Amino acid sequence: MKFVRFIMKNAALASVPKHIEHFSKFSPSPLSMKQFLDFGSINACEKTSFVFLRQELPVRLSNIMKEINLLPDRLLTTPSVQMVQSWYIQSLMEILDFLDKNPDDYKVLGEFVDALVTIRNRHNDVVPTMAQGIIEYKEAFAQDLVTNQNIQYFLDRFYLSRISIRMLINQHTLIFDGSANPVHPNTIGSIDPHCQVGDVVQDAFHSAKMLCDQYYLRSPDLILQEMNKKKNLPVSMVYVPSHLYHMLFELFKNAMRATIETHENSNNLPPIQVMVSLGGEDMSIKVSDKGGGVPFRRIENLFSYMYSTAPAPQIGEYTRPPLAGFGYGLPISRLYAKYFQGDLQLYSMEGHGTDAVIYLKALSTDSIERLPVYNTTALKNYKVSQEADDWCIPSKDTLLSFFIRK
Ligand SMILES: Nc1ncnc2c1ncn2[C@@H]1O[C@H](COP(=O)(O)OP(=O)(O)O)[C@@H](O)[C@H]1O
Ligand SMILES: [Mg+2]
Repeated sequence: MKFVRFIMKNAALASVPKHIEHFSKFSPSPLSMKQFLDFGSINACEKTSFVFLRQELPVRLSNIMKEINLLPDRLLTTPSVQMVQSWYIQSLMEILDFLDKNPDDYKVLGEFVDALVTIRNRHNDVVPTMAQGIIEYKEAFAQDLVTNQNIQYFLDRFYLSRISIRMLINQHTLIFDGSANPVHPNTIGSIDPHCQVGDVVQDAFHSAKMLCDQYYLRSPDLILQEMNKKKNLPVSMVYVPSHLYHMLFELFKNAMRATIETHENSNNLPPIQVMVSLGGEDMSIKVSDKGGGVPFRRIENLFSYMYSTAPAPQIGEYTRPPLAGFGYGLPISRLYAKYFQGDLQLYSMEGHGTDAVIYLKALSTDSIERLPVYNTTALKNYKVSQEADDWCIPSKDTLLSFFIRK
């Protein structure tokens, strides 16, 4: 019996590349916030969601699996990346099992929810595992600019794809697991149609403050202001509070660390100021600190997955969450902002402090998933080679450069 199962498993494994080839030919279908809400409204239909997901999840998985295969060999073959790749293959196979099942059978629908939960758990550690792969790669090989750019390009797309897949899985499992969401009775899956932005700011600030107190035995205060152009009310919007919380928590940890480290010898810590502003098109949140800022030249680096000024924490040593670590706080937060057509930008004045601004779409009709698609343009981006710079390299010795021939 065991032997038969083994053969069947291998046969299924052998057919994986064919499936990836097939499903990666489809473009992922971006959903709007409105569509997410409709999927989860009173007349939510589990069958429709099931039929959509058993096609859409393989499409999103296969599109990004094609790109994993384009990584430099030396990174692709690290044990960590191999592990991540095996999770993707396993999960793809588990969803494909449902392709020939009957959507009218409620047992099938129940099994699908269980399968999605298993898949979500399997992929919990994708980010730290991938980060470990990058560290292994960085330690073993000298880095060149082009490889760094490729890895940055890949990871932005890979993590965005992951955010989107988890969003789909969360919506389906939260809405159709049979019980209403007792903690947040008014949310639709993970979406809050009346997300109070100021409340999320307060929550994220207090979590970061607790962490900061543990590390530094003190922490700066918060000054929060809200501007609502339309009404004289607190700012509210349709959004995923957990995504917003994630971004703000990361920004607050950074702002606190910078504030404390620059005011080490002072008894007073300048507060962190937050402005929440709702306009006709944008909902923006500015987090301002007086933490000494960052030189302009380094700003781009802060969003790089290959860069952090804090020592890397070891996986498995999470007795308490680190205040700073892999250097993934900013890049991943920016992806959360971009996921629904927003952005995250840093404006810094070295010597003074930093403003971090989250831009989100104010209207739910503008909040549409932003998804990577595997096509010839993407392929071309992995094939760029190192070319000569078309700007002169500044030389300290002008006279000497006068004599250098091209
Ligand atoms: N508000 C800030 N003020 C000064 N430096 C900052 C600020 N935010 C981020 N940085 C710098 O950017 C780096 C990357 O930040 P992040 O992506 O959150 O990773 P991590 O905090 O894990 O290092 C930090 O290590 C820090 O040097
Ligand atoms: Mg950080």
